[in-house]
Amino acid sequence: MRNILVAGATGKQGQALIRALLDPPAAEDGWHIYALTRRASSPAAVRLTETYPAGLTIVEGDLEEKESIAKIFEDVKKSGAIWGVFCVLAFPGMGADASGEERQGKNLVDVSFDFGVKAFIYSSAMRMGPKSESTLELSHKAKRNIENHCIDLGNKGLNWTTLQPGFFLENFDGFVGSIGVALLKNGLKPETDVAFIGSDDIGNVAAGVFRNPEKFRHKTLVVVGECCTMSQLEDAHQRATGKWIPAVPAAFAWMISKTSKGAQSLVDHIELNYSARHSGEYSVEEEIGLANQAYKMKDCYEWFKQEKDKAALPNENWNQVSIGKLLTGRW
Ligand SMILES: NC(=O)c1ccc[n+]([C@@H]2O[C@H](COP(=O)([O-])OP(=O)(O)OC[C@H]3O[C@@H](n4cnc5c(N)ncnc54)[C@H](OP(=O)(O)O)[C@@H]3O)[C@@H](O)[C@H]2O)c1
Repeated sequence: MRNILVAGATGKQGQALIRALLDPPAAEDGWHIYALTRRASSPAAVRLTETYPAGLTIVEGDLEEKESIAKIFEDVKKSGAIWGVFCVLAFPGMGADASGEERQGKNLVDVSFDFGVKAFIYSSAMRMGPKSESTLELSHKAKRNIENHCIDLGNKGLNWTTLQPGFFLENFDGFVGSIGVALLKNGLKPETDVAFIGSDDIGNVAAGVFRNPEKFRHKTLVVVGECCTMSQLEDAHQRATGKWIPAVPAAFAWMISKTSKGAQSLVDHIELNYSARHSGEYSVEEEIGLANQAYKMKDCYEWFKQEKDKAALPNENWNQVSIGKLLTGRW
């Protein structure tokens, strides 16, 4: 039995990893999940316990408080040890201070190292290429610093693997998602392709790494199912579902792009990522290939086809966005 501590277990990527390891036919692999949450009584945590009565234990802790995390490792040690850790950290918000994100990540890396974890996966984010590395700010900088902290402790024996996911396709869910579609359709150049991924495949790739940790030790995997333009994305949605991807009117998106710093910065980051990839400055083919070796990721068409039958879930809070923040320019 391999014990995995999942930080961010009640979130998108954490739940995806839990499904990938515990849902049949992978159940025979012999995993036990310790699902970290700040509140065991939250609806998401209760749902996890009910869904996986045997293979999962909810553990309460706060990544801000290193001792609360160390206590979880101590408690598990009484009956075994934490073998692997999946580290996902909450996004602090566009333009928000990310010192907490960096502190939380480093806390988890440090405790995992102290307790001799055998496989540590940090899920970070795709970047804008080497030229942007020295000017990274806020959450991007926090993520880079956590990755570097893993590398430093890797020199002392930590077996880390970093995942760098692209833009989540779930960002387009719900009403906020339909604003996101219109923003990118109108804000990006027509030729700009976006590096997309469904968060279920981040979980699938992470599960592939835990199944074969030696192969991916000290490697960075770029987790992207397909790079495509917004019109190619619309086409994939139409072919997969028979419907156009929901988008608010262009005039509304234009108004938001003028008032929202977050919207402008999102478009700028995607343009930077695109031009770095297409100038040859930022080659990610090998890193995407590695992720595909851990799990063959879905392209946008396959992802939309898979999602078509699932009940639509409200998604009013991606990247800490809300309608109010968008309309008042606070995002
Ligand atoms: N959206 C995108 O396109 C995109 C692309 C690339 C990377 N990312 C990155 O993905 C990350 C978010 O992943 P996600 O969407 O899977 O997460 P999510 O759904 O937003 O969930 C956040 C998780 O963090 C946990 N959490 C928050 N504060 C905590 C604390 N102090 N201690 C312990 N746990 C805490 C929450 O657990 P409880 O509430 O249960 O405690 C929850 O499980 C961000 O770092 C973001 O930058 C996003």
